[in-house]
Amino acid sequence: MLKRIAVLASGRGSNLQAIIDAIESGTMQNVAVALVVSDRKNAYALERARQKNILTAYFNSRLFISREEYDRELVAYLEEQQIDLVVLAGFMRLLTPYFVLAFQGRILNIHPSLLPAFPGMNGVADALAWGVKVTGCTVHFVDEGLDTGPIILQEALPVARDDTVETLHQRIHALEHRLYPLAISLWAEGRLKIEGRRCLIDEE
Ligand code: GAR
Repeated sequence: MLKRIAVLASGRGSNLQAIIDAIESGTMQNVAVALVVSDRKNAYALERARQKNILTAYFNSRLFISREEYDRELVAYLEEQQIDLVVLAGFMRLLTPYFVLAFQGRILNIHPSLLPAFPGMNGVADALAWGVKVTGCTVHFVDEGLDTGPIILQEALPVARDDTVETLHQRIHALEHRLYPLAISLWAEGRLKIEGRRCLIDEE
């Protein structure tokens, strides 16, 4: 059965685009992007969704008295839209325990470093500033911590001597655009099993 996913994004939405492209090309067959939500009114991710006639919603944090109120409203909306899986793609808000509990095992995130190294808002800049020789990206389940949930997929790439945050992030984005559709497909096929901190992938 087709799984209905909601993509939550605050920015450019290149990962959203990669997901849409993977669906359109037939690489990802068992999911549909039912909804795109942003906390930023002018996020280009919303524009990408509108171009594909995907339902969009802007959740303005100023209209809520607390992070939990925001999440309660958002969860209610996601449930109303019968969303199976929540996909965070550059969504720059930490979900509250209320949200995580409501969609337990049904929230994925992508992060531009090899977690648990360099969590947070500036994964690429932090890794570069640390002087690492290898970095990459991680797709993981979301739990109540900051980028701490069980890891589904990771891929590494070398840091070049003359890399800037921009050049490095560009190469990481290329990895992300391949890895995220793959992880979403694995979830939709029911092939991911969480055992403690580990996420095991069932062989076909
Ligand atoms: C991606 O690189 C993603 O890994 C990162 O934001 C970017 C969004 O790009 N997420 C985080 O740093 C989360 N902590 P996009 O808007 O082009 O998809």
